Amino acid sequence: MLVMGIESSCDETACAIVNDKREILSSVVWSQFEEHRRFGGVVPEIAARAHLEQVDLIVQEAMTEAKVDFDDLSAVAVAGGPGLIGGVIVGVMTAKAIAMAHQLPFVAVNHLEGHALMARLTNDVAFPYLLLLVSGGHCQILAVEAPGKYVRLGGTIDDSAGEAFDKVAKMLQVGYPGGPNIERVAVYGDPKRFALPRPMKGRDDCLFSFSGLKTAVRHQIEVLGTLTEQDKADLAASFQQAVIESVIDRLKHGIAVFKEKYPDAKDLVVSGGVAANCALREAIENLARVRQMTFAAPPLKLCTDNGVMIAWAGLERFKNGKTSSLDFKARPRWPLDSDDI
Ligand code: KG4
Ligand code: ZN
Repeated sequence: MLVMGIESSCDETACAIVNDKREILSSVVWSQFEEHRRFGGVVPEIAARAHLEQVDLIVQEAMTEAKVDFDDLSAVAVAGGPGLIGGVIVGVMTAKAIAMAHQLPFVAVNHLEGHALMARLTNDVAFPYLLLLVSGGHCQILAVEAPGKYVRLGGTIDDSAGEAFDKVAKMLQVGYPGGPNIERVAVYGDPKRFALPRPMKGRDDCLFSFSGLKTAVRHQIEVLGTLTEQDKADLAASFQQAVIESVIDRLKHGIAVFKEKYPDAKDLVVSGGVAANCALREAIENLARVRQMTFAAPPLKLCTDNGVMIAWAGLERFKNGKTSSLDFKARPRWPLDSDDI
């Protein structure tokens, strides 16, 4: 079984081919950092046009790298949402065209399901498992029961963790993209210098909040006036530490709820772009050890958006007989815990 996956829901144009032996035959990711850098964030219209210019080339490159032809494929999958709608439409139309021209089954995958199932290709993870999904657009704790079957234990009431990383990076002027640059400068900083809030800590639920933390950083910047490189590093480190402590606290609650519902389940998976943060991964790995759970996370480059996660989720869906109609419409919003629009 050979499945192609196309991803274009944010600022990466990506295509990959995987098989049912959990092998990655090819993975091509083209990041639009240069297109968006001078705006300090992703500009949807520019992203859509860039996807349109690149997608055919990226698909071709993935085919060449995998040494396969369209007719060798078992199905073609695409991230059908949620995301920036112009980009999603580019991916969906491309995948539909390939499916029609080569008479292939078409599988529309929820982008979040791509992140959610990724660890099943890279690690030995069995259903059901507890998932912390932390990306640029989302921050949720979910119980994953099967492809298409998710129980949301909690999410964010305002910003996602990635959004907070990106906004704080912009405020500190440490460069775009935000998350990796905060992590880079935080290495030289003192995480204890600034007393930032630990949002939602101690609450009896699995909810997150990051907007107040962002405001607290802004306030500190105003108090300091001009920032030295050391100020920036200390603020980045203090901010990162606050995010980690908040996430760990929320996850502790998530583990308790999960264990009550699925007493025999053992796997704790973290995925999504923010899961590429090594300090956060380490903290979660420690928590898993203490709570006697098995920690699993995709390798760093498969945490941020890529085609492999779409191809793999498409393959898991296809194996379960879940293909999509060519009438499928790109979705700007698509909650993971429901197949409904
Ligand atoms: O999953 P992803 O590639 O795209 C979405 O689906 O949103 O996640 C992108 C997010 C961005 O907010 C980015 O700043 C964040 O993941 N990110 C990180 C790191 N690498 C990427 N955040 C913290 N530390 C990192 N090393
Ligand atoms: Zn993503």
